[in-house]
Amino acid sequence: MNSATAIAHPNIALVKYWGKRDLTLNLPSVSSLSMTLDTFHTRTTVTWDAPSDGVVLNGQPASAKIAQRTLSFLDRMDPHRPPCHIDTHNTFPTGAGLASSASGFAALALAASAARGEEPDRQHLSVLARQGSGSACRSLWGGFVVWDRGERPDGLDSHGRPLPEASSWDLRMVVAIVTTGPKDVGSTEGMERSRLTSPLYSTWVEQAESDVQAGIDAVHARDLEALGQVMESSTLKMHASMMTSIPPLLYWAPATIACLHAIWRLRAKGVSAWCTMDAGPQVKVLCRAADVPQVTAALAEYAEQLHVLGQGGPARLEQTP
Ligand code: DP6
Repeated sequence: MNSATAIAHPNIALVKYWGKRDLTLNLPSVSSLSMTLDTFHTRTTVTWDAPSDGVVLNGQPASAKIAQRTLSFLDRMDPHRPPCHIDTHNTFPTGAGLASSASGFAALALAASAARGEEPDRQHLSVLARQGSGSACRSLWGGFVVWDRGERPDGLDSHGRPLPEASSWDLRMVVAIVTTGPKDVGSTEGMERSRLTSPLYSTWVEQAESDVQAGIDAVHARDLEALGQVMESSTLKMHASMMTSIPPLLYWAPATIACLHAIWRLRAKGVSAWCTMDAGPQVKVLCRAADVPQVTAALAEYAEQLHVLGQGGPARLEQTP
């Protein structure tokens, strides 16, 4: 077999990854904690030994930037590789701060390995996916996933690991899409700008490991209030380091702030709902399943689209009939 199809879900970081200690291997300066989402997914078919290299995204030839990033990932897997065709489809907006690179490189790592007849273990796939996009190393697993920053220069100890104890916790992530369209400054460039120029970056790094531990403890205790508090604190510290970069990075739109206030007003009324934002304007709100109607009602007037997502499963191969 020289062709395989894999499906992977995006994940949303509850405690964020922002900043690299090694740009080539995508080694992070900080550990992170995420939740894999259901419903949204990337489906990718990889065919080795194609007539020529080709990358198709959502039915159209991919932009030169995306094609180059995808093909250099395959070059890294095998510098002497044959030509390869990749056909990938996202069921949600690409490059808009909705973690399409996470599901994309998780699906690509799995499909590309399987298409070569390889069956690497999850940890190996996570190390591989990380080299395509850091956050992709968390999308190999479902539920709550920790990405330990690791210490080794070769990155073999920098990969995801699942927290299976919490798989039955009935939480929802309400995603408010406030604007669609690709972001101006990608994560890789944004992280470097923050690392090199933000006076807040060192504090961000210093506090990250204890934030991840607080997040893990909260997941184990199924304590939404503790998880929500560290989650909002992590995203706001990350955005503070973005905003104080030179030139500044402000990923938020006016509707982002309106959503934040709407959720904080709801919380003042006793609803446990907590916000996180990535390298884009969208707001993701973590809450109990029973509180979803109140959360969606609070966000409705500011969002172009609302999606209610639960915990998704691991990346998987699609069996060919
Ligand atoms: C803000 O994984 O997209 O979503 O490693 O450069 O590809 P690269 O970055 P990427 O960055 C994700 C950053 C974030 C936070 C997070 O997902 O932890």
